[in-house]
Amino acid sequence: MQPNTMKALEKSKPEEGLWMVQAPVPEIGPDDVLIRINKTGICGTDIHIWNWDEWAAHTVPIPMITGHEFAGEIVELGRDVTGLSIGQRVSGEGHLIGTDSRQSRAGKFHLDPGTRGIGVNVQGAFAQYLRLPAFNVVPLPDDIPDEIGAILDPLGNAVHTALSFDLLGEDVLITGAGPIGIMAAAVAKHAGARHVVITDINPDRLKLAQHVVPKARTVDVTREELADVVHELGLKQGFDVGLEMSGSQAALDQMVEALVMGGKIALLGIPPGKSPVDWSRIVFKAITIKGVYGREMFETWYKMIAMLQNGLDVSRVITHRYKVDDFREGFAAMKSGLSGKVVLDWT
Ligand SMILES: NC(=O)c1ccc[n+]([C@@H]2O[C@H](COP(=O)([O-])OP(=O)(O)OC[C@H]3O[C@@H](n4cnc5c(N)ncnc54)[C@H](O)[C@@H]3O)[C@@H](O)[C@H]2O)c1
Ligand SMILES: [Zn+2]
Repeated sequence: MQPNTMKALEKSKPEEGLWMVQAPVPEIGPDDVLIRINKTGICGTDIHIWNWDEWAAHTVPIPMITGHEFAGEIVELGRDVTGLSIGQRVSGEGHLIGTDSRQSRAGKFHLDPGTRGIGVNVQGAFAQYLRLPAFNVVPLPDDIPDEIGAILDPLGNAVHTALSFDLLGEDVLITGAGPIGIMAAAVAKHAGARHVVITDINPDRLKLAQHVVPKARTVDVTREELADVVHELGLKQGFDVGLEMSGSQAALDQMVEALVMGGKIALLGIPPGKSPVDWSRIVFKAITIKGVYGREMFETWYKMIAMLQNGLDVSRVITHRYKVDDFREGFAAMKSGLSGKVVLDWT
């Protein structure tokens, strides 16, 4: 039997911060499982919610248990759940989908327009227990530890973006060496890219990128010209594929400039507002642009687990680990801009 109440990190009031509360352990429905949380990752989204910025205030109902990056263990199965078992180690997709939309009925679950996010629209994973539809559960193989399980959500963003276009033998430019950009660099290398160049304006982030992906060429765009790097690497025209992972307009402009004719861009980074785009440059360069949201259900999960089992190593992107009672330090590390992934331990 589970206890009746649990620790949870909650947005309890419309102001900066998160609060550790005692919340009821969720009751599960016939198609849900109850997961005991072992590890969680802090995401940029959680920082928005902590800060209670305009987006968060418009999007997140209060009270809300935050968090959507997790690994844990199944402790209870809904009446109609099959194929999963108590004690199984799992992570899972935090986007909850409906089944009525045209996209869902076509099997493109990640494109369901009615998607709701755990920790954003429905109670989340920063808690000792999480209710999740069994459909969303992704079992963790024994060789993937909980702390990697806790960052599969952002790794999935990186994998979804990086695998948007064929990378084998291609020269790839990644703008933004946040945790997701860095993991995308690792994925691009793993997927057979020739040169992987990753840019940032924060030297600490670039240092981390180099540490996690030694084969990538890091570029501080405040100090170096991308054109010089293109020349140094012997690229004839520029990069074949761009992965935008900063949300910065300057970075997108640089990317368009540094791409070959007919190049391809996958956009994951979220600009803070509207930003001007030089569309004629994109047209005359015949560039393909793809917006990327979330992870493909569940092909991204399949591919990332397969890659992790086949030598993809992103473990060094985790730079900070805290017991959950020290969550304030974890959030401070995230906000400092010096961290990679920050993982909280709930055990
Ligand atoms: N589309 C989605 O589903 C989805 C999901 C998760 C995250 N995101 C977005 O993806 C992006 C990456 O996520 P993250 O957690 O790694 O973010 P992050 O904020 O940790 O990293 C962004 C990095 O971009 C760098 N940057 C800023 N200006 C730059 C410039 N001009 N050139 C190069 N780099 C620059 C920053 O210094 C930072 O290191 C964010 O914009 C985030 O909002 C999108
Ligand atoms: Zn996230």
